[in-house]
Amino acid sequence: MRIKQTLLLGVAVAAAAAYLTIMPLNAQVTIDADDIGGVVTGPAGPEAGVWVIAETTDLGTKMAKMVVTDDQGRYVIPDLPKAKYKVWVRGYGLVDSAKVDSEPGKQLNLTAVKAPNEKAAAEYYPAIYWYSMIKPPDQASFPGTGPTGNGVNPNIKSQGQYLDIVKTNGCVTCHQLGNKATRTIPAALGNFANGHEAWTRRIQSGQASTNMVNTIDRMGTQAALKMFGDWTDRVAAGELPASKPTLQRLCAVAGCSIRPLRDVAALSIDASDLQADPAHKGLLILTATIRNRAAYPIGYPYLELTLTDAADQVVVRRALSPPEYVSGTVNTTTGIAPNGEIPVKLFIDASATVQAGYRLYLFFP
Ligand code: HEC
Repeated sequence: MRIKQTLLLGVAVAAAAAYLTIMPLNAQVTIDADDIGGVVTGPAGPEAGVWVIAETTDLGTKMAKMVVTDDQGRYVIPDLPKAKYKVWVRGYGLVDSAKVDSEPGKQLNLTAVKAPNEKAAAEYYPAIYWYSMIKPPDQASFPGTGPTGNGVNPNIKSQGQYLDIVKTNGCVTCHQLGNKATRTIPAALGNFANGHEAWTRRIQSGQASTNMVNTIDRMGTQAALKMFGDWTDRVAAGELPASKPTLQRLCAVAGCSIRPLRDVAALSIDASDLQADPAHKGLLILTATIRNRAAYPIGYPYLELTLTDAADQVVVRRALSPPEYVSGTVNTTTGIAPNGEIPVKLFIDASATVQAGYRLYLFFP
């Protein structure tokens, strides 16, 4: 659809060359003197949704601050105390990039490093993915038959009651399980024939050993040591979590190309306006609202802007991709929500053009 509007833009002066620069406010990362900011690029272009971490040991306490990149791979780590920082990129499907030296007030573009294989990628999964690999005794093991039977404490009547100790009211009351320290057996602990033996030794270590031994006893010492030992044995043998963090899983299945329908008929431009910016000569402000009238998400269209002269002849035309016309914080890959609307605001440097009207047109390339 086309929307045509005419507006008065003051005195028209003849100009031969037509020239138009669209200045989306989001093209550059804006930072203050105490921020570090830039763009993260990976093998496939801007790297969206990855962490950028800044860490320092210059201050009284070791400090790390982390942020997530936007749709265009941009990041700003704000309000950092003055210090020298190591900065790097971490994300699902990646391995940590080399740590780069930087300081507040600097632009720093970074390169994300794709994980060479699944095993390397899994090192960065949250602990819970590894934790979910623990295999508790099956339903038939309850009620437990004790040390001379299946090793499960006879007080435990059901698998749910057992899991309650592994999860909410036992081990995880004090610390997570599944992080690197708990899913591996450190070599310094000694030499053991298997995980069961190693666990027998390990939970007797440290100031919390009494609590850990007591907790294991509530589950049934032998069955619990066997369960944890079997888990770390499988991890040591290279078994990986069966499921992956959502982002990575989606990308693996769809090759990162899941995208909403591209149906231009479902879209309309509900309101639009082009005004001269009173504060800046030659600058125009375009505002518009793009509406999705469908009951399902529709992809972000391209927006074509045409400036016309008094005789309705085209002075200049420019097609804008979604990241060029929406605010940098909006994720354009998920589409415009059902019955949703998108505000558009563009600053246009049209100082060298003469225009009397404009047209907006939506399309999918
Ligand atoms: C009362 C709190 C508490 C409970 C309950 C507890 N832990 Fe711990 N756990 C600790 C503390 C504190 C440490 C670290 C210091 C130490 O070694 O005492 C630790 C250390 C560990 C380590 C060693 C990590 C390393 O760095 O090598 C493992 C493995 C572990 N716990 C597993 C368990 C399991 C399995 C359970 C449940 C049966 C459990 N813990 C229950 C407090 C607890």
